[in-house]
Amino acid sequence: DERGAVVRDLVGRELLITAGGTREDLDPVRFLANHSSGRQGWALAHAALVRGARVRLAAANVALETPPGAQRLDLGSAAELAETVAAHRGKVDALVMAAAVADFTAAGKSDAKIKKDESDPDSVPTLALRRTEDILRSSVLDRGDAERPAIVGFAAETGGDGVSALELARAKARRKGADLLVFNDVTSGVFGAADNAVRILDREGEELATAEGTKTQVAHAVLDELVGRLPQVP
Ligand code: CTP
Ligand code: CA
Repeated sequence: DERGAVVRDLVGRELLITAGGTREDLDPVRFLANHSSGRQGWALAHAALVRGARVRLAAANVALETPPGAQRLDLGSAAELAETVAAHRGKVDALVMAAAVADFTAAGKSDAKIKKDESDPDSVPTLALRRTEDILRSSVLDRGDAERPAIVGFAAETGGDGVSALELARAKARRKGADLLVFNDVTSGVFGAADNAVRILDREGEELATAEGTKTQVAHAVLDELVGRLPQVP
């Protein structure tokens, strides 16, 4: 609360938090990746644990120490993350999709290392890609009319071309159908940074709250909004 006391408002609750960035193998030595460090997902896990929750932490390539008390599930690719989320989302009160998930993966992973053509110094390979599963969207669809789990998405957007980052985030909130969409304006870059500023939107794209400060402060602001949207305790 405002005096800095710990609010134990997640006792008896279980959260599945995804964190980090997926890697899509191209060949035995190379992959497509992104800049996500896992810090926001980690901050969410720490904050949820402090508030009394049990936490399953699906970690995609995160080089950080496991938050004490979290059940860590390590994985690499978007397909592995989709599998992990599908296996666990039915057992938790909330799914928090903080991971940066690859939108594209190799259409066919090469079993052999991709080699340069030594006879032609200008030749380059063409990478064939295909779309990955939208895990957030499929989790919303899988839930259907059930109220469990509550679902939180994240969106880092850049504005431009006459459309603001906020407008894009509002449209994404409506498209995804998650209970909350945490929107981060990255027009000037944030990955790996300690501080953060977000707007928390509902599924209609309406703004519920804003938060700025450390990733821990942002995490608590997200949990503040989530706690009232958790399914009824049976
Ligand atoms: N997400 C997901 N599965 C994917 C891609 C994204 O579950 N294959 C989740 C992310 O974890 C995040 C949310 O969807 O919580 C929004 O991710 P974002 O990349 O902003 O959305 P996309 O629909 O992929 O749109 P864009 O084309 O802007 O990348
Ligand atoms: Ca994406």
